Amino acid sequence: MRIIKNPEPFASSYLPPRVVHRERELEELRDAISEGLKIGWPGVTVVGRSGTGKTTLVKMYLREVPGIYVSCLFNPREGEVLKTAIRRVDAHISLRGLSREKMLSVFAGLLERYDINVLVLDEVQGLRDKDLIYRLTRMEEHCGRGVALVLISPYPVYLSLPSHVVAALGRFTEIRMRPYTREQLMDILRDRASEALYAGAWDDEVMEEIARVAAETGDARLAIEILAKAASLAEREGEARITREHVMRVVAKVGAAVSASMLAGLEDDELIILLALLRIMRRKSEARFVEILDVYNVVCEEIGHRKSARSTVHRKLDDMVRKGLLGAERDASGGRFYYAHLATPEEGEEVILAILSSRVKERYK
Ligand SMILES: Nc1ncnc2c1ncn2[C@@H]1O[C@H](COP(=O)(O)OP(=O)(O)OP(=O)(O)O)[C@@H](O)[C@H]1O
Ligand SMILES: [Mg+2]
Repeated sequence: MRIIKNPEPFASSYLPPRVVHRERELEELRDAISEGLKIGWPGVTVVGRSGTGKTTLVKMYLREVPGIYVSCLFNPREGEVLKTAIRRVDAHISLRGLSREKMLSVFAGLLERYDINVLVLDEVQGLRDKDLIYRLTRMEEHCGRGVALVLISPYPVYLSLPSHVVAALGRFTEIRMRPYTREQLMDILRDRASEALYAGAWDDEVMEEIARVAAETGDARLAIEILAKAASLAEREGEARITREHVMRVVAKVGAAVSASMLAGLEDDELIILLALLRIMRRKSEARFVEILDVYNVVCEEIGHRKSARSTVHRKLDDMVRKGLLGAERDASGGRFYYAHLATPEEGEEVILAILSSRVKERYK
């Protein structure tokens, strides 16, 4: 039996024909830019957890107005961002040997020539050369042409930007993307299912099951990923339709992947507990409570954080398991052990340390 009519709407880069439940945010973005352009070069930050539709929202907006989109995740250095941005407008321009200043002025010139007013920097937390943002906000003074900036980040940008850059952003409008509710996820799933699947291969009961799981984090990407995998599973097994059982089997495997934006929502103590777990996971695949507690105490001393009591650490650890940030299992003898769902512990540690140190800086500012 065929279930999948067209797999394309399941691709991560797919831009749906409509975004549901983000009409207000799209309006806010439109207004902030068009009103701002009347008096200068405005800026907007779009902030929200993973899968809340930040990239989708902004790309929708770019269907309405000419603009340039660059992801800093793939272009972390200033030169790469500028080069990518310039090439999006003119693929053939020669940039060899150009200084940073010259590159910025070439960029400003192209914006002027092609009447482009908007530059989007996605995943701005991944930008290494943060001063680029400062220079972009000052571009009109130096190059005679400014640009409206849209910065997308999983957490408020002041957490990942130095204070002089934050100061330059003073007049930015922040658009907060809240996690999707179960009902909202249902609508997103229904839309995607009717695009990708044969009618009759799915029903609302199945969508409800997926929405319920994904609503724990409010992540539309997770919802769509579960739907896509459940559809493939049902098809592989020769079924006529997706059932709740397919969904549950997929959910058991997917697990909640911890992302930078989820980490940003944690309190310091929780981050340090997670950091302790990750340090242990460099050596082995899981950790016991006493081991985590030992490393937790060491990390607290290292970074000058006040230690919580053993029972508090235990409670917080179990809270994180409940929130889906960590996994926990019992071994054959009934002892509980913990593990994190992260690509690599090193990566996780780096992100946590960056969040903690920017918070410390914030407090002493
Ligand atoms: N309102 C919506 N309507 C339809 N589809 C949506 C909506 N919001 C998100 N999606 C879908 O969910 C997935 C994730 O959305 P998107 O990539 O925009 O999230 P994000 O906030 O940019 O996440 P990240 O921080 O991980 O980059 C995409 O497949 C997107 O098409
Ligand atoms: Mg995104």
